[in-house]
Amino acid sequence: MPTPESLTTARHADFDLEVVAGRWPTDIGGEMLFSAPQMSGRLAYGIFDLGCITRLSLTPGTHGAAPGHFAWRTRAIESPSKRIHDAMPEAFTTGPVGYNSPFGAPNAANTAPLPWGNRLFATWDAGRPVELHPETLEYVAEVGHIDSWGGPSMFGDTVLPFLFSSAHPVADPERHGLWTTKLEPVMGPSFGMRPSVVWWDRAGTEVKWWPLEGVSFPGSTHTVSQTRDWVILCDSGNFKADADEMFGGERSVTIDTEVPVWLVRKDDLFAHPSGTPVQPVCFTVSPPSGHFYARYDDSDGVSVVWEGMDLMDLGLYIRPGDLDLHGDPVDPGSVGLYNMAMAPETITEILFDPTDGTVRERGSFRQDWTVNLQLSAMDWSFEGSEAPTLHHVSYQGCRPGRITQRALALYRDRIDVDQMSEETPGYLATFERGSMELKSRWEYPDTSDLITSPTFAPRGAVPGTYAGGEPGGHDGYVVQPVLSDTGFRVDVFDAAAVGAGPVATLCGVNRECVPLVLHSAWMPTVTGLADADRLRFGDELTDARLASLDDDQRHKGPWLVADELDAVTGGS
Ligand SMILES: [Fe+2]
Repeated sequence: MPTPESLTTARHADFDLEVVAGRWPTDIGGEMLFSAPQMSGRLAYGIFDLGCITRLSLTPGTHGAAPGHFAWRTRAIESPSKRIHDAMPEAFTTGPVGYNSPFGAPNAANTAPLPWGNRLFATWDAGRPVELHPETLEYVAEVGHIDSWGGPSMFGDTVLPFLFSSAHPVADPERHGLWTTKLEPVMGPSFGMRPSVVWWDRAGTEVKWWPLEGVSFPGSTHTVSQTRDWVILCDSGNFKADADEMFGGERSVTIDTEVPVWLVRKDDLFAHPSGTPVQPVCFTVSPPSGHFYARYDDSDGVSVVWEGMDLMDLGLYIRPGDLDLHGDPVDPGSVGLYNMAMAPETITEILFDPTDGTVRERGSFRQDWTVNLQLSAMDWSFEGSEAPTLHHVSYQGCRPGRITQRALALYRDRIDVDQMSEETPGYLATFERGSMELKSRWEYPDTSDLITSPTFAPRGAVPGTYAGGEPGGHDGYVVQPVLSDTGFRVDVFDAAAVGAGPVATLCGVNRECVPLVLHSAWMPTVTGLADADRLRFGDELTDARLASLDDDQRHKGPWLVADELDAVTGGS
């Protein structure tokens, strides 16, 4: 079994967990949030399915759990997209990159939870951030009227706009807004996607955007990072659209070996009206990295950790009838999941000087065991992001059962098949920021375990704040979820000593299994819904957007959903 069957066969559901090993720390608290696609089975590639949000409370006996138990609570995101889909599922067709319909392309909001102060959002790469109620997890609103985004990225001005964006916007702690992106096709300087930096100050229902002058590229902007003075965008490099595949052919596009990076000075953006092209400072990095994280303090340069995705092509997914690396039929439980990494991955910290264009590698780490760099955990407090100390990374291990022969053929000139032929353990590893020196690691020798997105919980954080004892990533806990067909577990490690093993482990009281989850995040507390001026779905239902729909579609779809949402949210 390359990865647990329950990744695709389990269903998202509420349950409670209990401590089964160790002692639960008394100075951990807050909430751990997860995003995931529903894995309904309707899509050939499950990561495009409509999303849900899950919250694990790290304080026992809260949010409906019995004393001594921990609440796992999950909700489908009842967005306009989900509601219209559920009202008229027959109108939605499926393709290799998700659903489409006469209403437009739904916003799946399935990739990452984004806690921001006392507000909670869910994100993905092809839609606007979606605000959720932190306590009930109900849908609240999408971010920014589509007109203020400069309209959809492509596919027409529809009820459900297609907005090619970023799954990882970043909240600015000093300017009190959110940085994200929008991509749109352009013909010059060559045919490709032109990125814009997008800003939302959360005070209202409009965003601002600034296109990057002279930039056109064929990829995506999965992550946005920042320093005090700079916004950082990059071609993620790990997902490239393939026109042949979209029209029913075979994928032939492959990922690049190096990708462009764009730095934009924040003051330059605010000096220009929304819609004005701005000039970025351009660099390149190698290998491509889906996820990168800058130190907020840029007084001696822009220092960025690049979580490399060497030969990790997220455009490749597993189909029925596929053969794995050894030529055996793929496990049915893997169908609809992505093709896993085809090389060990490199993690690197690089210092950029945008004033003179110089680049210096501060440290790098890659060994045979650093395969399937999944995701990482860090201190997201303001103090921690200014002076990060430790960076915790989960490696899922080599899984040749989830590398297909189609992938091998596509990458035959770039892959070392012998190096990827054995299953290897997963590891939770701690690196020192700056040097990328390996400080500690914990091995998961049972390859039927699949560790997934970890998060950092600061020690003794005051409820309502993101800061704990000493900032940076060493003074607190790394919370490491483990997917397994014998039951989902949550291991908690001392962040300063992950190599010592978990200090406590949670299991579902009935050894429940959890399906595929994507990103996680930590939020210090859950309060009610913050007062704010929010976008109403009905505000975007212009005659022009409704014109292509027939009466039945208008009544059962957008008009009905607009009324439902006004009733649920009080018209806010
Ligand atoms: Fe991501």
